[in-house]
Amino acid sequence: MGFIKVENLSIDLGEFHLVDIDFEIKKGDYLTIIGPTGSGKSILLETIAGFYKPKKGRVFLEGEDITNLPPEKRNMSIVYQDYVLFPTKTVFENIAYGLKKKINDKEEIKKEVTQIAEILNIAHLLHRKPDTLSGGEQQRVALARALVVKPKLLLMDEPFSALDVKTRENLRNLVKKAIEKYETTILHVTHDFDDVWNLATKILVMRNGKILQKGDINDIFYRPSINFVADFVGTNVLEGEIIGKEDGLSKIKVGDCILLSIDDSENNNNYNKSNKDNNIDKNNNVKLSIRPEDIIISKNPINISARNEFKCKVKEIKKIGNLVYLILNIGGTPTKCILTPNALSQLEIKEGDEVYAIIKAINVRIIN
Ligand SMILES: Nc1ncnc2c1ncn2[C@@H]1O[C@H](COP(=O)(O)OP(=O)(O)O)[C@@H](O)[C@H]1O
Ligand SMILES: [Mg+2]
Repeated sequence: MGFIKVENLSIDLGEFHLVDIDFEIKKGDYLTIIGPTGSGKSILLETIAGFYKPKKGRVFLEGEDITNLPPEKRNMSIVYQDYVLFPTKTVFENIAYGLKKKINDKEEIKKEVTQIAEILNIAHLLHRKPDTLSGGEQQRVALARALVVKPKLLLMDEPFSALDVKTRENLRNLVKKAIEKYETTILHVTHDFDDVWNLATKILVMRNGKILQKGDINDIFYRPSINFVADFVGTNVLEGEIIGKEDGLSKIKVGDCILLSIDDSENNNNYNKSNKDNNIDKNNNVKLSIRPEDIIISKNPINISARNEFKCKVKEIKKIGNLVYLILNIGGTPTKCILTPNALSQLEIKEGDEVYAIIKAINVRIIN
């Protein structure tokens, strides 16, 4: 059995339900939970913490059934987006708060607090009060307070959401350092894909109180099991038909384009095994996934080893933040790729132009 196992968990909150939540993770795993707002991510976290009573199902921690244990007996810490520190206590007292309930030895408490404060770069702030700290510093104190008691499970609900990009990156690195030291197992709700790419060993995708897909980065970003997940994580899905083999690669026809994939359609390692038997229907129809960052754009044909190179029309150019999305027409399917604004101006591409899209056969995956 996994370190934490959630088995067929359902919650009834009147208008909202969590339905048949089922997953398990190993000790030391870093599970990120993603999904649209309102999908039940926070409720799931708080149910695991013991704040809601399930209608059915069980939660196991290290094999022990903890479904009916009160929150304070579960050996879990939770960190929220807003830091909720005690305003009248110093940073030291804030961090030591939970620890004092567990141990009496003052020297021991001091040692533990100092150790976590050093890891999280807040050792110089121990005498300060929370309202004199920046948001990033306050969140590091909240993290220190959560970790110092060495919880079996650390639950984090959008812990970096209120922070700027640079502070987030810094905190991600500090969290990595801290969990290596403390060997913590983590459940982290986030809407920031940088958290997922940088921290996750496992991912749950939720919507409307249900798990849509569970897996690792490879499964979720490269082999999304349904179009909703693909769309949510920004992966292109193209529908095509297998028409044969070429040099050991699968040949797939998408509209008037032929794509080559290194995946063997009969033997692909789709995570959703239930789909495995029907991942090609009788007409050899398949879905392909291509990540936007795996498409190279050129004005002219280029002779490289990538096996897929074809001319296609730029349907649309969208600027989002500091990136540019080109929507290409690949065999009739709108397909997103990413450029930097610099690359776009060097290429001098405008909507309606024809460009060459180059994709390695290894980056075209046959999904279901
Ligand atoms: N205590 C509650 N009772 C009933 N409904 C709730 C309660 N808390 C949250 N909800 C509803 O449950 C749904 C899921 O909420 P939440 O877990 O906070 O979503 P997420 O964290 O994925 O954005 C929302 O529609 C919310 O309004
Ligand atoms: Mg939430």
